[in-house]
Order: sequence, then C-alpha cells, then structure tokens
Amino acid sequence: TDHGELGNHHGYGPDIDHVLLSEEQIREKIEELAAQIAVDYAGKEVLLVGVLKGAVLFMSDFARALRLPTQMEFMAVSSYGSATSSSGVVRILKDLDRDISDRHVLVIEDIIDSGLTLSWLLKNLGGRRPASLEVCALLRKPDAVKVDVPVRYVGFDIPNEFVVGYGLDYAERYRDLPYIATLKPEVYQ
Ligand code: XMP
Ligand code: MG
Repeated sequence: TDHGELGNHHGYGPDIDHVLLSEEQIREKIEELAAQIAVDYAGKEVLLVGVLKGAVLFMSDFARALRLPTQMEFMAVSSYGSATSSSGVVRILKDLDRDISDRHVLVIEDIIDSGLTLSWLLKNLGGRRPASLEVCALLRKPDAVKVDVPVRYVGFDIPNEFVVGYGLDYAERYRDLPYIATLKPEVYQ
C-alpha cells in the first residue's frame, strides 16, 4: 500500500493500534458497490442522503464512483448515549432541505453498529413517502446488531471493535484519516 509510515498520517501515528482497512481496500470496495448500484438504479435519478458527519468522506468518494446523475442531501442525527455506543433515542440536529416524496432515496451511512440509529432513520424517512428507500453502509458490525435493519448494500463486515478514520471519529478526532483503524486502548483514557 502507499500510505507510507503506517498510521503516521496527520500526526495520529502514535494513537493508531492497527489499520483495519487500507485506502486501497476502501477504494476497491467503493468501485464494487458503485458498479452494482449503477446497474440497480440504471435510468433512475438517485437522491443520496448522507448521514453527517461520519458518512461525508464515503459519500464524496461514492458519488464520484457512481456514474449516475445523483443529487445530495444531508441529515444530522444524534443518538443519546456515550461516545462509543448508541441508545436508539434519536434527535434530528439537521433535517433534509427538501421533500423526498417520489424520489429514489439511497441513505449513505458510515457504520451500522447496533442498528438503532438506522432503524429510527428508516422509519422517519419512510414516512415521507419516497419512491424507494435503500441503505448503503460502508461498514457493519454483525456481532453488535440489536435490531435487524434491511440494508441492501454493505461494504465490509468488521469485528465488534471501535474504529476511526475515513469519516469516523473518536471525540471528533481522526475523521480525516484516509483509512480505517483501531486506536490504542490508552487513547480512550
Ligand atoms: P448504531 O449503534 O445506532 O450506531 O448502529 C450508529 C452510529 O454510531 C457511531 N458508531 C461509531 N463511530 N466508530 C465510530 O467512530 C465506531 O466503531 C462506531 N460504531 C458506531 C456512528 O456515528 C454510527 O453512525
Ligand atoms: Mg461519532
């Protein structure tokens, strides 16, 4: 791979435990997902709904890889809970700017952990009567799932560990890492 000194990007090197998914693995997976989705949505105009802030890097790379006309909306939600786990009680911090009725909506998520946030989000968006509603998540933690959510497109199933990078944060840090990694335990103390 070409990320030089492993984990030394942006000076975060000393905090990184190990790289779970490299830049190249992420890039290849996005090409794969985009190829599949381009076939599934051929002839349709897709409305990508990105969930802030974690999905921003994925959304940006995915929209470029998907060679279809897309539009972008963003939503920000906060699920009450600790920094590393969610409760399922969700609050809208920023709603969509536009009506999504009769639109083909594809929700772009960074990660599905318990599934609680996404489950709430799908109910909320489904109530707005889109023509179709599907989810594309870069990561999923199968061992953490508490509620089964129908997710049509998943990049990687990963172990039940807290990960950062490529949009994902710990206390708002590490989102700018170009790969996905775990942190050394002492970083959480
Ligand atoms: P749930 O449990 O509702 O959680 O599926 C979804 C949201 O929780 C955050 N999350 C993480 N953020 N590393 C992170 O940086 C992780 O390993 C992780 N697991 C869950 C994330 O915001 C996600 O949308
Ligand atoms: Mg977060």
